[in-house]
Amino acid sequence: MQIKTDFLIIGSGIAGLSFALKAAKKGKVILITKSNEEESNTKYAQGGIAAVWHDSDSIEKHVADTLNAGAGLCDEKIVRLVVTEGTERVKELIELGTKFDKKANGDYDLAKEGGHTENRILHYKDVTGFEIERALLKQIHEHKNITVYDHYYAIDILTQHHLGEVVTSQTQGITCYGAYILNTKNGVIDTVLSKITVMATGGAGHVYATTTNPVIATGDGIAMVYRAKGHVKDMEFVQFHPTSLYNPGENPSFLITEAIRGFGGILKTLDGKEFMQKYDARGSLAPRDIVARAIDNEMKTRGDDYVYLDCRHLDRKGFIEHFPNIYNKCMSLGIDPFMKMIPVIPAQHYLCGGIIVNEHAQSTITSLYAVGECACTGLHGANRLASNSLLEAVVFAHRAAEHAASAMNEISFNDKIPDWNAEGTEQAEEMILITQSQKEVQQIMSNYVGIVRSELRLKRAFDRLEILYNENEKLYDEKVITQKLCELRNLICIGYLIIKHAIRRKESVGLHYMVNYKKKEKI
Ligand code: FAD
Ligand code: SIN
Repeated sequence: MQIKTDFLIIGSGIAGLSFALKAAKKGKVILITKSNEEESNTKYAQGGIAAVWHDSDSIEKHVADTLNAGAGLCDEKIVRLVVTEGTERVKELIELGTKFDKKANGDYDLAKEGGHTENRILHYKDVTGFEIERALLKQIHEHKNITVYDHYYAIDILTQHHLGEVVTSQTQGITCYGAYILNTKNGVIDTVLSKITVMATGGAGHVYATTTNPVIATGDGIAMVYRAKGHVKDMEFVQFHPTSLYNPGENPSFLITEAIRGFGGILKTLDGKEFMQKYDARGSLAPRDIVARAIDNEMKTRGDDYVYLDCRHLDRKGFIEHFPNIYNKCMSLGIDPFMKMIPVIPAQHYLCGGIIVNEHAQSTITSLYAVGECACTGLHGANRLASNSLLEAVVFAHRAAEHAASAMNEISFNDKIPDWNAEGTEQAEEMILITQSQKEVQQIMSNYVGIVRSELRLKRAFDRLEILYNENEKLYDEKVITQKLCELRNLICIGYLIIKHAIRRKESVGLHYMVNYKKKEKI
């Protein structure tokens, strides 16, 4: 079936939903999402959204903290733009019905996280993302110009390649005409023709064996754009959150928010000793890359499987009020945070790199925008400052919507795009070929391309991944398309991009830490 719409948005996290609400004032919106509509990284965001809010804070301070975390690789113009426009966008979230916690005097209760010199994180208990997603979806349901297609999976975007033209990464004027989408309930593949397409597909956590990301995070948008010969950047900067709950067998890993360290929680080794001061004067609240590496180093040196987060000294009532979700989770595992220390371990959490976009969220492909975690705006540089990603998503969703609304009138549908051709393909008889390869990709990435890397490990990862790539391309060409098969294809592509960019960068910087170049840093 062929479907036509002004705006096609792929993804229903904060970025896709925010764009949809703004674009719907100008035209018809179809928003597709591969799982239930609320399932997204956004839903699990705990700590909150950073914004300059209180008089003691300033644009300059938030800019400086972001630049500092980004290890010299942020685009300062973009940092200024996000921080300056961010407060207004957060006010809009509130107008749309999002609740953030307030103190008894009515002021917003601003939390602090690693790398921030001020309390500037607006939050709703420890389930901020769930609350934002709830509020945005409520607005989406009330909008007559927006149709949500849940359980639809975007396979690839449409360009002149689908009209038989040769397209390379050097081709000028590559244009996006929409996407092929798979109804995952009945296997039918439809063609969506759109004037404007927006990639809002989120992160790629499941390229690693251990991640805080839900299973939807398979890097689909970045891989689709890369296949369409759009440009991507900074893929080597993979952020590992220092403190996910150590609970072997639980996947995705449960996050223990950094805000707990902002509340006074202290990292300790298994013998109960503090260790962060050895690595950074900011202790447990140093930026994430430093804390994650320090934990990794302690675990490897001591031969331990985890470290502890000590909360036993904290105010019980205040803790339970701020972090009810985490408190309940710990208690369900027999860990009373006021009696026992919480075992924690780093886990993949966020991808700083992605689809290159300009200040209007335009990708290098005409009529294609990218917003949220799948985009690389220049805000994060080599390491994202905590709670800056929800902020980036709302700022760029707004900018993209403003820009796309004016561009849309000049664009017409490309009716020549053919429907999906499944001729010659047959049903895959063995799922093991897909599930086992996915595990192999995750093992390769976790073992060789994790928190600490080396030239030898990267080379080995590259060679191993190439075998999986060749096997998977054959499967993709011969078998009937399924979501799992496409996700594996995308994960292999993301792994390849992370390794390729890591090999290219001949220095240790931010989240990309190479033992070969370790003299440049403290650890
Ligand atoms: P997502 O929210 O991940 O949404 C992506 C959407 O795209 C999903 O709906 C998905 O189903 C859909 N999708 C993907 N591929 C396809 C496809 N092929 N076809 C159709 N649909 C597709 N950031 C902060 O700033 N503050 C925090 O406190 C914070 N806490 C976090 C806690 C956790 C546990 C995690 C995992 C992340 C946290 N982050 C936090 C990061 C932040 O949540 C994400 O970066 C942000 O929510 C990404 O939003 P998004 O809209 O770009 O993507
Ligand atoms: C957290 O709550 O620790 C996560 C915040 C973030 O990823 O920005």
